[in-house]
Amino acid sequence: MARHSKFTNSPNTVKSARIIAIASQKGGVGKTATVTNMAVGLVSLGYKTAIIDMDAQGHIALSFGIKKTNLTKTIYDVLIGEAKMRDIKQHAFGVDLYLSNNSLANLSTKVMAHLNAKLFPAPKYLLRKAIAQINTQYDYILIDTSPSNDMQTMNSLLASTDIIIPVLPEGLSIDGIYETIVLIKGIQEQGEGSKLNILGILPTMVQDHTNLHHVKLQELRKEFAETPDIKVFDTVIKRAIRHGLAQTIGEPDIKKAPEYLSFVKEVLAIA
Ligand SMILES: Nc1ncnc2c1ncn2[C@@H]1O[C@H](COP(=O)(O)OP(=O)(O)OP(=O)(O)O)[C@@H](O)[C@H]1O
Ligand SMILES: [Mg+2]
Repeated sequence: MARHSKFTNSPNTVKSARIIAIASQKGGVGKTATVTNMAVGLVSLGYKTAIIDMDAQGHIALSFGIKKTNLTKTIYDVLIGEAKMRDIKQHAFGVDLYLSNNSLANLSTKVMAHLNAKLFPAPKYLLRKAIAQINTQYDYILIDTSPSNDMQTMNSLLASTDIIIPVLPEGLSIDGIYETIVLIKGIQEQGEGSKLNILGILPTMVQDHTNLHHVKLQELRKEFAETPDIKVFDTVIKRAIRHGLAQTIGEPDIKKAPEYLSFVKEVLAIA
């Protein structure tokens, strides 16, 4: 396999992964499908890639054909200091996976408990600490997030170098972009995220033939053309069963999702 890793040509540089969170405050916009297809796309191009699932729904496990009920330790155990990243690592379809299940929903209760305050002095930076254990092993680490503004999402954003915001070009979903941008800008302004760069907005589940999507997509492009620091990607992911297929049958395959490969190449050109 051809390997184009940006690190292979510079053996003297200590490598450090690009950490990309796929985030939107709106549910069901294709975050998990994007993480899954991007990861197998990056692997197909020779990049060493990992996924961290920071959503308690645990959909990354399903997307890679792994039963959530078979997981004894998850990212939750790492975040609360009861496991190391290497203890929970799984590998499927060329991607290293750091998975979650519904135990992750207990994070906030656990770390904010009065008795535990001393154990977790920096509860927003637990994921950043966990990633420090694996950072040098990868070219790209992708983080799947939940649509809520909870401790898991805050940890994800604060651990990331970059954010991709998927959007379905419809009214309510578009509204989700602004909520997400406000959240990110808040972090940038407080200087909390390392550099937290918004890589761009990815239109997903687009139905070209509908006038609504066509018009909304045009409006979106026009609006963000005036915002120099946020771009709408040229690549558009169409609504097609093939993109959700990985999640349904647990077998991600970039050859079946060629738009996502184009998307990965567009990201590589800027990241
Ligand atoms: N491009 C697409 N075309 C058709 N179906 C898709 C596409 N992308 C994702 N899906 C399907 O749509 C549903 C929602 O997608 P997905 O789970 O990726 O969204 P999400 O943003 O991660 O949702 P949540 O906010 O619940 O985590 C899933 O059933 C998925 O298989
Ligand atoms: Mg999801």
